[in-house]
Amino acid sequence: MITLQSVTVLNGQTVDFQIASPEEKTIAAKGLTLLPAVIDPHVHFRTPGMEYKEDWLTGAKAAIQGGCSLVFDMPNTQPPTITASLLQEKKALIDQQLKKVGIPLRYELFFGADKQHLSEISQVKGQVIGIKIFMGCSTGNLVIDDDESLEAVFSLAAEQDMLVAVHAEDEHLIQERKRLYKGAMNYAAHSLLRDVEVATHAVAKAIALSKRYGTRLYILHVSSAEEIALIRAAKEQGLAVFAETTPHHLFFNTAAYETLEGRAVVNPPLRDKHHQPALWKAIHEKVIDTLGSDHAPHTQAEKAKPYGECPSGMPGIEFMLPLLLNAHHEGLLRLDEVVSLTSARARSIFRLAPQEDWVLVDLNKTQRITHTASKCGWTPYLGLTLCGWPVYTILRGHCFPLT
Ligand code: DOR
Ligand code: ZN
Repeated sequence: MITLQSVTVLNGQTVDFQIASPEEKTIAAKGLTLLPAVIDPHVHFRTPGMEYKEDWLTGAKAAIQGGCSLVFDMPNTQPPTITASLLQEKKALIDQQLKKVGIPLRYELFFGADKQHLSEISQVKGQVIGIKIFMGCSTGNLVIDDDESLEAVFSLAAEQDMLVAVHAEDEHLIQERKRLYKGAMNYAAHSLLRDVEVATHAVAKAIALSKRYGTRLYILHVSSAEEIALIRAAKEQGLAVFAETTPHHLFFNTAAYETLEGRAVVNPPLRDKHHQPALWKAIHEKVIDTLGSDHAPHTQAEKAKPYGECPSGMPGIEFMLPLLLNAHHEGLLRLDEVVSLTSARARSIFRLAPQEDWVLVDLNKTQRITHTASKCGWTPYLGLTLCGWPVYTILRGHCFPLT
């Protein structure tokens, strides 16, 4: 049994709180606040095939540091997770790695939709958290860029009562932008080549398909005011459409190319600063449901390559909760909104079992970000000083003190 003495709970009361555990432990928790552990519905931990960027040893450490006890991993690995047998192989590798590091991190996997393997979808029902469609190319070669295959996935998913998660950027528009673009090929060009219309075109198409087939739809990394308008309208129609945004779209904008250079390159790209207040408003109005880190590590050497060779993506799982707690400290977000974004909404959208894991946070702890547990060794948040940090993650009754 773990006993938390004088811990503050969400309604502001101070209580002694007990958590079932194989360990006998008492924590003097006066001044600490107890929240449900973070669910990160969007990570790229890179197993199999790209373990030089991240694996589940380092990924799990980064998750725990961020107060996170459950992650949903994406299928754009090498090979991609596009068949039932590849799914089993991936699970076996992950289990081995988690055993090795001694962190019983909870995880779920997304299944990758692929034109050549549509018949696999019905075979993995019950074994995956949903089906991921890349409507535009990103890291890896997974993409579904024709309407016929898209319709097939939405319809199959609806039949199987499986959720579809979309990376909503339209591949044809991206290619057209690349053909027509005459400007400088610098990092900032990324936000022009994958402009807001690239995203809205795909979001509108995904919502229309969700409506036609009755498919439960989760729109990943929403980054713009225009996407939000479409999602708001879909929700008002009563469609089963859910939306995620990311820490980097909330806290960075296109000005970050100046300082972060290639490290700011991500899909969908960072947007002009006027989109940030729209994201915050959508959070308060519950148009945005969840926050996903889209933890997408690449090495520093890869991110230092010139535009065109520099891969898209940035790591962030460790700092998602601290960034939100700091936003709470600054009056941008209520604590119940933090919980809603980081666990409660995901639990309901993804129909998860009742919550058992916890994070103890110190809302008054101020700390500068100087390092990361991620194997890639960098984070775009390096150097930031934040107020509000997790100090213990309690996962399956095991208590992990954080540094
Ligand atoms: O920037 C991105 N990086 N966006 C994605 O969709 C994939 C991710 C990755 O896997 O690197
Ligand atoms: Zn992603």
